[in-house]
Amino acid sequence: MTLLDAENVTRFYGDAPPCGRCVDLTGPEHGRNRCPECGTVVACADVDLSVEPGEVLGVVGESGSGKSSLAEMLALDLAATDGRVEFDPHDGDLLAANYEERVDLRNEHVGMVHQHVRDGLNLAFTGGGNVAETLLAAGHRNFEDVRSRVRDLFEETEVPVDRMDDLTNTYSGGMQRRVQIAKAIANDPELVILDEPTTGLDVSVQARVLDMFRRIQREQGVATIVVSHDLGVVRLLADRTVVMRHGRIIETGLTDRVMEDPQREYTQKLINSVI
Ligand SMILES: Nc1ncnc2c1ncn2[C@@H]1O[C@H](COP(=O)(O)OP(=O)(O)OP(=O)(O)O)[C@@H](O)[C@H]1O
Ligand SMILES: [Mg+2]
Ligand SMILES: [Zn+2]
Repeated sequence: MTLLDAENVTRFYGDAPPCGRCVDLTGPEHGRNRCPECGTVVACADVDLSVEPGEVLGVVGESGSGKSSLAEMLALDLAATDGRVEFDPHDGDLLAANYEERVDLRNEHVGMVHQHVRDGLNLAFTGGGNVAETLLAAGHRNFEDVRSRVRDLFEETEVPVDRMDDLTNTYSGGMQRRVQIAKAIANDPELVILDEPTTGLDVSVQARVLDMFRRIQREQGVATIVVSHDLGVVRLLADRTVVMRHGRIIETGLTDRVMEDPQREYTQKLINSVI
């Protein structure tokens, strides 16, 4: 059974009302994502994708291609303009979930690691407090149980446990990324979404964060969507990959196939620019 099945996921940005032709006038064949008629930015349009339980799906594409918009809609952090998403733990369209359902889904079923640390963590809380918040939101009440679970999650994500009670803004970038991962997996969600899990980190720190996540992903079998402009990251983690450009998916396939035998010139260029 498919875990997540997204159809026609679409997101517009703009102040003016859309003219009705925005999708037709944008996309890879037009070389733009901004509608020339009304100025609406078509960040994502007609995006179809699916994720199987335990699978890792990569999303690659140049800056501005719509990767974060897509990730945030699937993590229920951003309202969709159009589309429908079936998600196994939820009855009906995920994108139409009401407020209470969203809170519940975000706490227990979909973990998100944000591109920008400030969107994922409260830097004025302790690292342990950030993770505890997610556990408390899922109904854990006993103080000692919560602390012991936080400790386990710190160990799991290789954050020094003795830093648990320090403010998160005193953590290194790599540690902050790990705390976000700890928070994302805290309540054993079915799906984790990683948006640019390694940007801003030194190369050696990047490799350690990726190894850590790969181990957790294997051990727990959690389905993952990993978004990155770095093909090396997706190559390391993802079973299947979709390539985005100007808000559309232009190529999809097994990661090895996409990397070794890209069908689209754009994908070839993307690969050549990093490999
Ligand atoms: N809040 C916003 N208001 C207006 N336009 C936005 C907003 N957020 C994103 N966009 C636009 O939507 C498009 C897609 O942005 P998005 O952040 O999803 O791309 P991305 O692929 O994640 O890029 P990056 O690799 O730089 O993170 C871009 O043209 C961007 O400028
Ligand atoms: Mg992004
Ligand atoms: Zn338009």
